[in-house]
Order: sequence, then structure tokens, then C-alpha cells
Amino acid sequence: MLDFFEMKGVPFTRENAPDVLFASSSHKEAAARLEYAVQHRQFCLLTGEAGMGKSTAIRSLVHHLDPIHYHYLYICDSSLTPKLFYREVLQNFGIQPAFRSNDVKRQYQSLMLDIYENEKKQIVIVLDEAHHFSDSMLQELRFILNFREDSMSPLTLIVAGQPSLRNLLKVKHLEAIDQRIQMRYQMSSLTERETADYIGHHLRVVETPHEIFSEEAIQAIYNFSQGVPRKVNTLCSQSLLDAFIQGNKVVGESHIHRVINEL
Ligand SMILES: Nc1ncnc2c1ncn2[C@@H]1O[C@H](COP(=O)(O)OP(=O)(O)O)[C@@H](O)[C@H]1O
Ligand SMILES: [Mg+2]
Repeated sequence: MLDFFEMKGVPFTRENAPDVLFASSSHKEAAARLEYAVQHRQFCLLTGEAGMGKSTAIRSLVHHLDPIHYHYLYICDSSLTPKLFYREVLQNFGIQPAFRSNDVKRQYQSLMLDIYENEKKQIVIVLDEAHHFSDSMLQELRFILNFREDSMSPLTLIVAGQPSLRNLLKVKHLEAIDQRIQMRYQMSSLTERETADYIGHHLRVVETPHEIFSEEAIQAIYNFSQGVPRKVNTLCSQSLLDAFIQGNKVVGESHIHRVINEL
């Protein structure tokens, strides 16, 4: 199929090198805000519908973090518990977690302060897929960020998930956590124009010499995907395959409709 379309790689995959990401307005704003949050050791909430590009924006942030100055830890576990969180952090720094949970919390506190004050490194912790977090995990965020009687924070905490996460934090007993959020950003979908550019971008990355999708096809992709990057990817990959099987070098609207009917 790659030869058929004269492509130098598979387009519309999950694996995008961080330096070839498409700079949609939402992606740029998310990336800029995440960077600011890191520079100021903030507690940041990144939300957006599934497939909108949250994890991608986080990945592009990491790409810019110099490992000499930053310790970075990414945890993607929708059923994360406080216990697992502390264990994961400690083990990541080569520390054997203590047996009792209070001791583990103390280990965590002194580790974070030690890295910040003695190693002079910045710590960035990302908790992805947080919209399924239990109430106890959400409550724990307060303790994860509480150092020296709450007078300072040695780390950046980025919590990412679907928009329902915002509502989860709006309940009364989590108000103290919600108030601590210093940076919030909700990612939005690609505009119609951006969707067309996004498709063109992916094709440029694999160096196709021709336009492959017709204008009507792009319009249909936008209508169906509503500019959600992952949906655009799925539609594009499958319609490319459909066109290939039928021997068409151009993906017209009919291929998109066939794929939509199968989805
Ligand atoms: N800025 C971007 N440039 C290129 N591809 C992107 C971009 N944003 C999202 N994508 C694509 O869309 C898919 C979904 O993005 P992802 O970050 O996993 O969404 P989320 O974490 O919000 O569910 C990814 O596999 C990626 O290929
Ligand atoms: Mg994600």
C-alpha cells in the first residue's frame, strides 16, 4: 500500500515523533500552558474528550524537558490508588517502599524535598486518565502536593483526563483540591480548516508527492470526526486502505462513507 500511494511511512498512526506533531491552536495552547506550569511548579489540570490530543501534548512537553534539570514521571493508570501512587514514585527513584502506608508517605515527602533542595532538580509528575480516579485517589492529591505545612511545593503535578474530571472535582468535599489548581486547560477539537491541514500534515510527514484525499472526502471526514484527531486518524487510515483495495489513487467521498458505515 505504501508503494501504491508513494508513501515513505505509514501515516495517521499513534506513533508521531514529538518533533513532527501538528500544531493546532489547541495543541499549541496546551503545550504552552504545560510548559508554564512546569516552569512555575504548578498544579495543572488538562482536560479534553477522548482522542483530542492530551497525551500527545504531554508527550511533546516531555520532549522539551532536559533530563539534567528534570525528573519526569508519567503514570497512566485509571485505577490508580494512593498506595500505588507512592510505590510507583518511590520505586521510580530506586527506593524500596516501606511496609506501612504512613511510612511510605513520609518517604515520599522526604524524597521530593531532597531532590528539590539537594539535587536541585525539578520534578514533574503526570497522572493521565484521571477521570476514572476513585474519590480516595482524588482526595490524596491534596497530600501529594502538601509539603512543610503546605507552605511550598517542590513539584509540578499535571493531572489529565476527560472533561468529566472537572465535574468530579466540583463536589463539596474536594473543593480544597479544586482551589489548588493553578492552571486549567480544556483542549478543543480541530476546526474544519485545521482538520484539512492536519490530514495534509500527516501526508507530508510520509512524503507523498500527491494530494490523496479529495476536498469532498476531507469535508466528510470533518463532518464525521468533528475534528477529533483520533477519529480523523481512524477514518483516514481505513479509507486509504479501502481506496487501495479498490485500486484508487485518490480517496474520494465514497470511501469515507463506506468506512463510516462499517464503524
Ligand atoms: N498535535 C498532534 N499532531 C499529530 N497527531 C496528533 C496530535 N494530537 C493528537 N494526535 C493523534 O491523535 C491521537 C489521539 O491523541 P491522544 O493524545 O492520544 O488523545 P487523548 O490523550 O486526548 O485521548 C494520537 O494517537 C495522535 O496520533
Ligand atoms: Mg490519553
